Amino acid sequence: MEDRPPDESALMRGVFEASPDAIVVIDADGRIVRANAQCSAVFGHDPDDLLGEPVEILVPPRLREAHPARRGAFTGGGGARAMGLLQLAAVRADGTEFPAEISLAAVSHDGEPLTCATVRDVTARLALQQESDRVREELLATVSHELRTPLTSIIGYTELLLDLGESQVGPAARRMLAIVERNANRELRLVNDLLDLAFLDDREHMDAEPVDLVEVVRAAVDGARVGARGRGLELSSTLAAGVAPDGARALLVTGDEQRLGQVLDNLLSNAVKFTAPGGRVLVDCAPREGDLALSVSDTGTGMEAVEVPRIFDRLYRSPRAVRDQVPGAGLGLSIVDSIVRAHGGRIEVDSEPGVGTTVSVLLPARVEPVA
Ligand SMILES: Nc1ncnc2c1ncn2[C@@H]1O[C@H](COP(=O)(O)OP(=O)(O)OP(=O)(O)O)[C@@H](O)[C@H]1O
Ligand SMILES: [Mg+2]
Repeated sequence: MEDRPPDESALMRGVFEASPDAIVVIDADGRIVRANAQCSAVFGHDPDDLLGEPVEILVPPRLREAHPARRGAFTGGGGARAMGLLQLAAVRADGTEFPAEISLAAVSHDGEPLTCATVRDVTARLALQQESDRVREELLATVSHELRTPLTSIIGYTELLLDLGESQVGPAARRMLAIVERNANRELRLVNDLLDLAFLDDREHMDAEPVDLVEVVRAAVDGARVGARGRGLELSSTLAAGVAPDGARALLVTGDEQRLGQVLDNLLSNAVKFTAPGGRVLVDCAPREGDLALSVSDTGTGMEAVEVPRIFDRLYRSPRAVRDQVPGAGLGLSIVDSIVRAHGGRIEVDSEPGVGTTVSVLLPARVEPVA
């Protein structure tokens, strides 16, 4: 058999027509110069009917006016600009809108600058995603209820038993009950942490109210006092000492008071846990360049520089924490990270092994409307 040179253009046409996505090629004036067969399935237009039409025919009427300018932004400035995947609305021949994933590429043909748009209808995929989100939420809500209800009862009855007099619960039983209580509480915290991680990523689950960080600090420091004393640590805050910055005015951010309290509780629990007896833990809150910086410093074990970027990963615990059997699951800081992100803030960590650690949370200060 004789070797024939492959017909490249026939091959390319075949690839163009075989694509599972609709593909339209547009000239510099925004007119469609090629459209593949899939356009009839995706848009309900015969591909031949599209030739010569402005590409806006595929754009929902409400967005048509603004479209040429957006198109210019892509083709202008010398062509070949890489543009990632866009999620946009598109319209079918019958006028119905659909969510589309569109990828644009600049191509040139015989010196003419063209744009190739690949369009995929993602209606089914989005519906599937919504359905799986709903199932996940439902499952988590059920599981958490099923886990929490018996745990709360175990903790409640253990407390009742511990409240009974010496004649009914002797010292040995009391010690064992205390262990049951501690572990049940630990499990409850873990269940709550896991639930938080499942839900915290979306802002829906978060308030957007004015929150006074002075109050958040007071409450968290009060909550950590017993733990700190138990470990022989000095715990203080610049606010408790009466040196509230900014003349004792409120330090306001916009957000979810309970979640911000959780941030500080977690940072304080780490500072207390990773600081040896005799050390100090300090909480500070002060304005910093349009932000409010909420920081917790300790004179504890500190961390190596390589560890710092990993401490926000779920389940990460330093080898030292594992070796020394410091209690924890490695979830606290990933929860902190999710909450801070949802508030539009960021976290800075400054740590030196053997010296201590400062973790600062920077949150945008709330701008009060001028009266
Ligand atoms: N103040 C700190 N000083 C030294 N190491 C710290 C400090 N804060 C965090 N780390 C390190 O970062 C790791 C992750 O912290 P994270 O709060 O996420 O988990 P954890 O405290 O171990 O467990 P959990 O918070 O779930 O009870 C810790 O295990 C520890 O190795
Ligand atoms: Mg922690």
